[in-house]
Amino acid sequence: MLIREAVADDWPRIWPFWHRIVAAAETYAWDPDTSEEAARALWMGPGKRVYVAEDGFGAVVGSAYVTPNYGGPAAGIANAAFMVDPGQGGRGIGRALAEHVLTAARAAGFRAMVFNAVVETNPAVRLWTSLGFTVLGTVPDAFEHPRDGLVGLHVMYRAL
Ligand SMILES: CC(C)(COP(=O)(O)OP(=O)(O)OC[C@H]1O[C@@H](n2cnc3c(N)ncnc32)[C@H](O)[C@@H]1OP(=O)(O)O)[C@@H](O)C(=O)NCCC(=O)NCCS
Repeated sequence: MLIREAVADDWPRIWPFWHRIVAAAETYAWDPDTSEEAARALWMGPGKRVYVAEDGFGAVVGSAYVTPNYGGPAAGIANAAFMVDPGQGGRGIGRALAEHVLTAARAAGFRAMVFNAVVETNPAVRLWTSLGFTVLGTVPDAFEHPRDGLVGLHVMYRAL
């Protein structure tokens, strides 16, 4: 597997799994009906440093971005987001993307990383915890999960 910075032409290969993940409405606080154009702006818009994971055949199987979480005097705190093609989950792609992004964020000068809205029932919480993130707090009953009902959103943090 290869992890590299994304180029504009990667978007059509990110969009199918981006759409599948957001339409499922289980993990992201984004409109499940987000259009392709709006999705592209959310994922690859100004200020985002975007990465893709490619399998051995050159297929894009995951993507992530890093961006400042705040502005001005707090712009040294990063935010990141991750998606792996659901058909390729559980094979270590998410962990590899996360390790790559943590290293890249540190190299870019960010001092810490914050996730603003991690669904508390998302198995990804275990991944983030294993990478050194802690839960700073939880907004209770913030997210209407299609199976779990009303669940909390964690704010997670890690120094870089
Ligand atoms: C979260 C996500 C990026 C993880 O990618 P992945 O390639 O499936 O993850 P990995 O195979 O690297 O697994 C990493 C760890 O996460 C845990 N994990 C991740 N997804 C899991 C799942 N669906 N079920 C159980 N464990 C899971 C495992 O404990 C695994 O631990 P290990 O490395 O010790 O084996 C991917 O599942 C995804 O895109 N989910 C939908 C979007 C999302 O939730 N993004 C994160 C929002 S906070």
